[in-house]
Amino acid sequence: MLLIVKLGGSILKTGASSELFADLKEIMKSNKIIFVHGGGSDVTDIASKLGKEQNFVISPQGFRSRYTDKETIEIFTMVMAGKMNKKIILALEKQGIKSIGLSGLDGSLLKAVRKKRLIIVDKRGRKKVIDGGYTGKIIEINKDLLWAILKKNYTPVITPIAISEEYEPLNVDGDRTAAEIACNLGADKLILITDVEGLILNKKIISKIKTSEIDSILPEIGQGMSTKIHSSIKALNGGVKEVIITSGAGKKPLSSALNHKRGTVIING
Ligand SMILES: Nc1ncnc2c1ncn2[C@@H]1O[C@H](COP(=O)(O)OP(=O)(O)OP(=O)(O)O)[C@@H](O)[C@H]1O
Ligand SMILES: [Mg+2]
Repeated sequence: MLLIVKLGGSILKTGASSELFADLKEIMKSNKIIFVHGGGSDVTDIASKLGKEQNFVISPQGFRSRYTDKETIEIFTMVMAGKMNKKIILALEKQGIKSIGLSGLDGSLLKAVRKKRLIIVDKRGRKKVIDGGYTGKIIEINKDLLWAILKKNYTPVITPIAISEEYEPLNVDGDRTAAEIACNLGADKLILITDVEGLILNKKIISKIKTSEIDSILPEIGQGMSTKIHSSIKALNGGVKEVIITSGAGKKPLSSALNHKRGTVIING
């Protein structure tokens, strides 16, 4: 099977254990994996140390996103394609998994259009139009490059930074990037690894949910998870058979999730 696995910055921060990477090694004996990673909170911490406090904006749909101006995209690129990507490469190489770190800029892996304007809701609840900054929407994926890497038995580890039509770097969300890649490559499963056991509603972990059941619960889902749910729907509509949202902590975290013993499974229906 081809699995697209997004490693949430949240789990990498709390110290993704060698358990997780050892488990990945086991799974990779019979499956191919393409990794996408997050790391937003590290970007925020380092930006702050550099004296560049980060601003977050809220869309009318309720999505919170980093306002990415010129300085921010530079810091974002340093931390994400540098620190975070290489941290994962080292953990995989330690397991003997041959890995190649790539941002969407490399080989024009992820092409995107820059969002010219953003509609945001200000503190008083009023809608405002602001410059889009360096954020984008993926329009094309260099599939050939990914297939070539996989064919040589290397594992791609992708930083969610895309290349604009004007050859600038654009911040694209990690969960959405993973979903786009999963659809584009016809992956079997999309797995979103994070710091919670799955989708939680009324303090309970939902073990399985169908796309048709999601609309009514969307208002109850908070920041972080709502992006995952939207990305999951996108992946399932694009032909992916199953999405799993699960924690990267504990023993054999990914194997348990693939066996439906942990996490939230989302399917079409
Ligand atoms: N209904 C919900 N069920 C589970 N988690 C929820 C829910 N609503 C909000 N969350 C939050 O979503 C968070 C996970 O998303 P978050 O964006 O913080 O992590 P990540 O995507 O793994 O990391 P990164 O964004 O850096 O890649 C959880 O830690 C939790 O606080
Ligand atoms: Mg997130």
